[in-house]
Amino acid sequence: MENLVWVEISKDALKANIKTFRNLVGESTILAPCVKANAYGHGLIETSKIFLESGSDWLCVNSLYEARTLREAGITAPIYVLGYIALSDLEEVLNLDLRIVVYNKETVYRLGEIADRSGKKAKIHIKIETGNNRQGVIKDEIVDFVQYILSFKNLEIEGLSTHFANIEDTKDHSYAENQLKKFNEIAAMVENLGIKIPLKHSANSAATLLFPETHFEMVRPGIATYGMWPSDETFLSFSSERKMKISLAPAISWKTKIAQIKVIPNGEFIGYGCTYKTTRETKIAILPVGYYDGYDRGISNSHVLIHGKRAALRGRVCMNIIMVDVTDIPEARLEEEVVLLGNDGDEVISAEQFAKWASTINYEITTRINDRIPRIYV
Ligand SMILES: Cc1ncc(COP(=O)(O)O)c(C=O)c1O
Repeated sequence: MENLVWVEISKDALKANIKTFRNLVGESTILAPCVKANAYGHGLIETSKIFLESGSDWLCVNSLYEARTLREAGITAPIYVLGYIALSDLEEVLNLDLRIVVYNKETVYRLGEIADRSGKKAKIHIKIETGNNRQGVIKDEIVDFVQYILSFKNLEIEGLSTHFANIEDTKDHSYAENQLKKFNEIAAMVENLGIKIPLKHSANSAATLLFPETHFEMVRPGIATYGMWPSDETFLSFSSERKMKISLAPAISWKTKIAQIKVIPNGEFIGYGCTYKTTRETKIAILPVGYYDGYDRGISNSHVLIHGKRAALRGRVCMNIIMVDVTDIPEARLEEEVVLLGNDGDEVISAEQFAKWASTINYEITTRINDRIPRIYV
């Protein structure tokens, strides 16, 4: 069946980004790109395979479901689960040989019991609260928490981790520096209990790019491994603070086809709510994509690319349809390709541009492209 909406992923771009990250962190640091959220929209299984083939060591996912999907696809590389796993699902953590983050005693108790019963070791990473105030164990409770874990003979504390709250949203990195200081202090408290923690990790994309001192033994970059800068601020900080140049290669394009072309008289309304009235005789292309697919309904002023030219959105985004103005693209024909995101000739619609139209961030644009839309790897 013909695809009417599809996503193209450049394998070369993904590979190039992993090489860039390898060069940034060196050979001895575990490179564990985040493939949660359907690999930021790029397709979980294929992207994971490409990342591993191009030199990634581990993969980070959010959920048990994602980890299971990767194991079922034959991926044997270490998988670290960043998100919560229900107590009733913890048995599968051992069956699938996963590493998980822990930050509450209920999880420790349940996993410890399962590990003891099965005689298998469960590898856990403690999340330390340093200022994000979401997952994490606070400083005052860390010693008690670690001692509780140590009372289970089959629980192995493999890692200590934290996550930065304010590193990509600003060029002032004092909050992140303070978080890093706290992380180091708390890690020292843990190690003073006489245990050696093999893996400390804190770095997302922005931290990996900007601050080598956040790399420790492992990094967990997400957005930048897909070729997108975490923010303008991170790009500017990198340019001014680091004495090196890198280029990130965006890997994703999102495409559709023209489903109808028609001419509408001057003074007619287009779409629901009659939000747009033509100011001239207007040639409209109807595109079979809408908010169900991830094209945000809040957008009112976007463009798409047809024959390398910009065609403006007219009227509201519908559930499965958008309408664009092709009056100035007379060569546009039925079933021709339309670029919603990506390059066409000399023009480009970046995820950052798209995010501005939708008043959000590039992360949300690519992760919200509906998982059911085929991903084609080119
Ligand atoms: C715990 C954790 N680590 C790493 C990442 C990757 O972040 P980024 O995509 O900014 O590199 C995320 C993303 O949300 C995260 O939640």
